[in-house]
Amino acid sequence: MILGETPQDLLLRPLTRSQAIGMLLRLSVFGAVTYFSIKWVCDALDPSREERQRLKKKAQRLMKKIGVEGLILTEHEMSIAAHLVNPRDIKVTWNDIAGLDDVIADLQDTVILPFQKRHLFKHSKLCQPPKGVLLHGPPGCGKTLLAKAIARASGCQFINLQPAALTDKWYGESQKLTASVFSLATKLQPCIIFIDEIDSFLRNRSALDHEATAMMKAQFMSLWDGLDTLPDCQVMILGASNRPQDVDSAILRRMPLTFQICQPTQQQRQEILQLILTGENMSHVVNLNELAVRTEGYSGSDLRELCRDAAMYRVRDYVRKQQMWLVMRPLKVADDKEDKPTDRLRPMTQLDLLLALDKMNESKGVTAAATLQHPSLD
Ligand SMILES: Nc1ncnc2c1ncn2[C@@H]1O[C@H](COP(=O)(O)OP(=O)(O)O)[C@@H](O)[C@H]1O
Ligand SMILES: [Mg+2]
Repeated sequence: MILGETPQDLLLRPLTRSQAIGMLLRLSVFGAVTYFSIKWVCDALDPSREERQRLKKKAQRLMKKIGVEGLILTEHEMSIAAHLVNPRDIKVTWNDIAGLDDVIADLQDTVILPFQKRHLFKHSKLCQPPKGVLLHGPPGCGKTLLAKAIARASGCQFINLQPAALTDKWYGESQKLTASVFSLATKLQPCIIFIDEIDSFLRNRSALDHEATAMMKAQFMSLWDGLDTLPDCQVMILGASNRPQDVDSAILRRMPLTFQICQPTQQQRQEILQLILTGENMSHVVNLNELAVRTEGYSGSDLRELCRDAAMYRVRDYVRKQQMWLVMRPLKVADDKEDKPTDRLRPMTQLDLLLALDKMNESKGVTAAATLQHPSLD
């Protein structure tokens, strides 16, 4: 029936109590159904919802493990909290780093101590932990390793910030995420924000930068400066970079404490080799000094690869001996069991290490030639 055809008195007549309740009930059911349908459609259309939910669950799990439950975090802070690192999960200690004793002692005095002995430095503005520390030097020389050891030794909360965590396709979201890095760190303090390969994230600003990136960098810097104004703020940014010349000069200014982690010297190489080979079954005549002399220009990570390759020669030998024995067995007398190879790997010898070194020198020569032919663009 159309409204015009409805009798006047029916429209003007006051509703009875049950009619009013019925109408209210119908209205609220209709409202609820509309609300949940719109919400469901919005959720279904939001492509990043699942990712956000995953990050939220991960963050909650991590925070429970670390023991910082009960904090009220915003949605953006939750997605940053997914990058928290549980110091107890980090296996690297100072003892796993060789040849960098001076750097370690310096780091312990200037970075770890102010965090650990907060009560001593409370009344001195000058003795506060630095707001920014930069580890720089050639690749593979132990920067990330040092950062892991710092995370474990400092006892602070540690956010391993990856640039991808701050990027979002929606305009303005990156800025919100950047702001939440600092607000989360302040809530969790004492806290270290670690940015590995900081040059890729906070590189020199240029006119070609995308507007969102430029705004994010500017905001990062101003929030970083803001840490100074907060009383007793225990938040530090730790950066690591192979190319400090590419890091924005304004960022470098905010990291006055820098540690150069150079290519290891002969003595350092010997110490690194010693450390890497600790616990391995070694022949008594291995001469690490000779190896250290012959590995000029090798980084810690190259030395590790070299030792790994040398260790594999033993495995190859073992497999070959087993195969040979299996082939020869039918040709031998039944009870000749003495020839059976032992079920253990032989000790690692100097020859293994030298063979691995030759192989590595060769491959390094090939890569160096390729780099000269096709110089890297960055
Ligand atoms: N000083 C060192 N002592 C022991 N191992 C080292 C050292 N430097 C490098 N390494 C080895 O090289 C690997 C790579 O080092 P990493 O810290 O990631 O280098 P980067 O300086 O590029 O961050 C480490 O996992 C470790 O095995
Ligand atoms: Mg690294």
